[in-house]
Parts: sequence; structure tokens; C-alpha cells
Amino acid sequence: MESGKRVLLIISGGIAAYKSLELVRDLRRRDIAVRCILTDAGSQFVTPLSLAALTEDKVYQDLFSLTDESEMGHIELSREADLVVVAPATANILAKMRSGIANDLATTALLATDKQVIVAPAMNVRMWKHAATQENITILQERGVQVIGPEEGDMACGEYGMGRMSEPAALVEAIENFFHNAGQAPQKSLIGKKAIITSGPTHEAIDPVRYLANHSSGRQGHAIAKALAELGAETVLVSGPTQLADPMGVTVQHVKSAEDMLAACEAALPADIVVCAAAVADWRVANPPSEKIKKNGALPSLDLVENPDILANVSQLDKDRPALVIGFAAETEDVIAYAQAKLAKKGCDWIVANDVSPETGTFGGKNNTVHVIDAETIEDWPTLSKEGVGQKLAARIAIHLENNST
Ligand code: PMT
Repeated sequence: MESGKRVLLIISGGIAAYKSLELVRDLRRRDIAVRCILTDAGSQFVTPLSLAALTEDKVYQDLFSLTDESEMGHIELSREADLVVVAPATANILAKMRSGIANDLATTALLATDKQVIVAPAMNVRMWKHAATQENITILQERGVQVIGPEEGDMACGEYGMGRMSEPAALVEAIENFFHNAGQAPQKSLIGKKAIITSGPTHEAIDPVRYLANHSSGRQGHAIAKALAELGAETVLVSGPTQLADPMGVTVQHVKSAEDMLAACEAALPADIVVCAAAVADWRVANPPSEKIKKNGALPSLDLVENPDILANVSQLDKDRPALVIGFAAETEDVIAYAQAKLAKKGCDWIVANDVSPETGTFGGKNNTVHVIDAETIEDWPTLSKEGVGQKLAARIAIHLENNST
């Protein structure tokens, strides 16, 4: 039985177009009706026949097709959808969207629509990083277009970097979130709020060439920063060393050690929201030598001292304490009990508990299973992508601040 939800999917020309077939199948499994516009370039990668079979519908390709226009005009195509998704979105179609160029069916429908648009960029890493593409994306986001991905990884062109289209599961999640939110109160906005997020590991020097660190990739913290910025918060991300690109629309302070991270957070205060997702090293070497420690037969011993606790410091501020301070608890056993103890000890308002046992793949992986804990409640969230956790947490923060505003 159809759910009554309708997506207009625009497939532009990129090797990632094959993922759109899976996206259609996944949406149809959720009883979401999908109507496709396939650009000329898109049809070099997937056939109208496969799309028609998967959507159980006609595939629209030609702006000047008499038959198409009489059956379903290009204005009608966007009018009758609840949501427009462009996946893959090439650099070319993004540039046309930004400039309002309408020279084929896809771009005409995009210019004519007043519906929410989600784009899933997919392109070569240098095309993605080009100032023109970055400017186009920023302007589209400012106009309300939701951008999912791209992700980092091996590319069809043989290069490595940012530019791979997000997996269909991430798009399905964003589409389901759209339908979920549309039926409820309008999305709460964080415009006018300031957020500071810590992310990634810290590196604590042993000597000038060696350091103590951990397995944090920064994915979770970066995703939270991105989601808060998307809701309009002025967002400062204080990031330890990671391989990740700086999220768009976020001010990023790159730091190495826990002491640097604390200093950068203090410099960014005051704020309304602080989320400590970084895996800060608990200890550092007391007096790291300025020259490399030589291997001379004797085993060196390291004197460790405790690092400052950023989360506890911010939570226990007397003056200008942020309205909402959120910590994470990375545990390998008794996850909830240890997280509750950290909540009480550090004095934050919520703690997001996650199991970081190696078999969970939480450190460095794409997904996370979290429990959001406050003084009264424990909320168990399903396994989500780290982007999904970021979006859900940002929405929860916005609702909390709205409900507790004076
Ligand atoms: O980076 P990813 O690969 O995506 O992995 C995500 C993650 C597992 C790192 C993340 O989800 C997470 O759990 N982050 C917190 C890691 C951690 O250090 O947890 P903890 O239980 O040791 O610390 C508790 C809290 O105190 C955390 O909010 C931490 O940021 C904060 N802390 C800890 C020590 C310290 N010196 N200063 C702090 O602010």
C-alpha cells in the first residue's frame, strides 16, 4: 500500500548514478512513490528501462517531448512531489541550480519547484574542492537546499578524497527524516545560538617525533558540528588531528593536545551549546624533551600527568555557563552505568553514551549506536549513521532550547 509520500528523483550524469537504482528500490520498499527525471548525461550511466521497472512509472527525460508535456508538464512534475532529490548531483547541475539556469527538463523542474530539495553531490575531489563548487554549495545551503555528503574514499577516476556520493542508506535516512519532520511541528531553528563542539583525538607529545593518541577519527564530532550549523547555529568546531575535511559553514580551530583544545574552547566561549565529542587524552607526558629520545638499550619510562578535563571545566563554569553542555561517554562495559556516573561527576546536562569495544567499530566507523542520558531519562537510539546521530542530536538540542527559553 502506498504511503502517499512522493519523491521526484533527478539523476544527473555521474558514475554514482548506479547508487540511485538502489535508492529507488529502498524508497519503494518503504512505500514511497518515486518519479524520475533522467538527464542526458545520467542516461549514459543508467537506463530509463531499469528506472521505469524499479519505479513502476514512466521516466521523464525530455523538456520538449510533446507526449511528456501533455501527460505531465515540467511544472507539474515538481508540483506533485513532496520532496525533490538530486542524486547524484554533479558539479554542473549544482552550478546551474545556483545560477538559475534552466536548459533541460531537470534544471527547469528545479527552478520551478517550491518544494524542499536534497542534493547528494558526487564528483572528482578537485572539482568538489574548487572554489566555484564550494561557493555554489554554500549559496544553495543558504537558500535552504539540504546537502548530503559527499564522502571521502576511493573514486572511480582512481583518485582518493572527498567527492564520493553518500550511500543510499544515508539518503533514505535524510528522506525519512524529512517526511517525519514535515508531519510534526516545524523544524526548530538554532539561528542566534552559538555552539562549540570538540572532535577527534588529541596528540600528546612524548618527544618531538612521537605522541600518545587514540583511534578517534572525528567523524562523530564533525557530523554534530555540521548538523548544528545546518540548523543555523554559529558553530565553532575545535578539532584534534583528523583526516576529515572541514565541514562547511563551520569555523574550525585545529589543535593537537588537550591543553590546546581547552585553550581554543575557552577562547571561543561564551556559547549557548557545548558538545564534547572529542576523545581527549586523559594523560600527557609530564616534561617531553625537546630532542628525540634515543634508543640506547635502556627502556625509557614516561612520567604522566593528568590533562585538564574540558567537559568538566565548561560544565562547572560559574560565569556564563552555556545553557546546554553535552558530553560523550566512550565505554567498553556497563555502558549506561559508567555514563551516568560521568554525567554526575562532570556536571554536564546530557551525556551521550556509546560502546567503543573494538567489535562495535564505533571508533572510526560510519555508524553509531548511542544512548542519550540526562538526570531523569535514558533514550536508546537505533543504530544510525554518524550524520544521522548528528542530525537527531541537533534537532533534540533545538527542541530543548526552544522549550527552555525564558
Ligand atoms: O571520532 P569517531 O571515530 O567518530 O568516534 C566517536 C567517539 C567514539 C570518539 C565519540 O562518539 C565519543 O565517544 N567521544 C568521547 C570520547 C571520550 O574521550 O570519552 P570519555 O568517556 O573518555 O570522556 C568523557 C567525556 O569527557 C567526553 O565528552 C570527552 O570529550 C570529555 N573529556 C574527557 C577527558 C578530558 N581530558 N577532557 C574532556 O573534555
